[in-house]
Amino acid sequence: MNGMKKHLLRATALVGLLTAVLAWAVYRYFDRFVPLQASDEGAQIDRLLRLEFVLIAFFFALVVGFTLYAVFAFRSRPDEPGEGAPIHGWTPLELGWTIIPLLIVVWLGWKGYQDYIRIRPFSFAPREGLLVQVEAFQFGWSFRYPQYQVTSSTLVLPVDTKVRFEIRSRDVIHSFWVPEFRVKEDAVPGRVTYTFITPKRTGEFTVRCAELCGAGHAFMRAPVQVVTQEEFQTWVQQQMAQNLSPEEKGYRLVKQFCLSCHSLDGTRKVGPTFQGIFGRETALQDGSTVVVDEAYIRESVRNPQAKIVAGFPPAMPPFPEDRLSDEDLDAIIAFLKAFTEGTFQIPEE
Ligand code: CUA
Repeated sequence: MNGMKKHLLRATALVGLLTAVLAWAVYRYFDRFVPLQASDEGAQIDRLLRLEFVLIAFFFALVVGFTLYAVFAFRSRPDEPGEGAPIHGWTPLELGWTIIPLLIVVWLGWKGYQDYIRIRPFSFAPREGLLVQVEAFQFGWSFRYPQYQVTSSTLVLPVDTKVRFEIRSRDVIHSFWVPEFRVKEDAVPGRVTYTFITPKRTGEFTVRCAELCGAGHAFMRAPVQVVTQEEFQTWVQQQMAQNLSPEEKGYRLVKQFCLSCHSLDGTRKVGPTFQGIFGRETALQDGSTVVVDEAYIRESVRNPQAKIVAGFPPAMPPFPEDRLSDEDLDAIIAFLKAFTEGTFQIPEE
């Protein structure tokens, strides 16, 4: 029995050492393996994730430590014939390795739940902080700031402000995700989902769609700018004061709704490029050709499946009037015309 005790002590020491080294590595290198942490909610999630990694390190060390020790200490030697005495179950050990992990899992579940309701409280002061209405569609994002009557294709957020997001979808299920904020929330058609984010550092990030939603899923991104509170106020004032020419307005609409799938510089994306589009002769899937004029653009926006350009998938969803007014469509045509003729310069941003 003394020999057994000696082995147990040594193996336990090995497990302790392995755990300590791995736990140290988790704390030391955690930041290298996750995206930059840019929100208060992200800090909570990272804390929980780190704790889970440390527990995983312990259980890994427990299995690997005992195994390694056994492989070396109890290796077969030339003077030993066959197998040792058989061992049957030991009830206290089996109870122990059932009940302790169960308690740990329940405890982690409770901790996770507490973080969850802290991030997404069931009740909250309705007008606390900033409200942003997110609309997801195939394939892009639109952000509305109802307090200011401003709509933007870039998500601009003031730092250190709790932002409530109301998330809707126009068509299919998408998922609103900025990895640096950690929080992720589905956009479900016919429902309003919500989440909260409190950005804690300024910088530029990207909204990514995290739910496979069609041919343009990989391009369904939108820029995020976290700015100081003063810069945010200036931006809002600018947006509110804007009085745009039809071409400028058209450009903004194109940027908001079209550029996930169409390029302005000739690059091939899900759909044909807009470079030199106006007046262009285009081959269609059915073998005929068409000249891109006002009527064709109008039809392609309202009823994209009517005439599919040869070599491209029929991926575009229709944009009905409640989505894009006739006035908006006129602005888009004005922009495409001016852009093709070279009389409109894309503003630098
Ligand atoms: Cu929207 Cu993927």
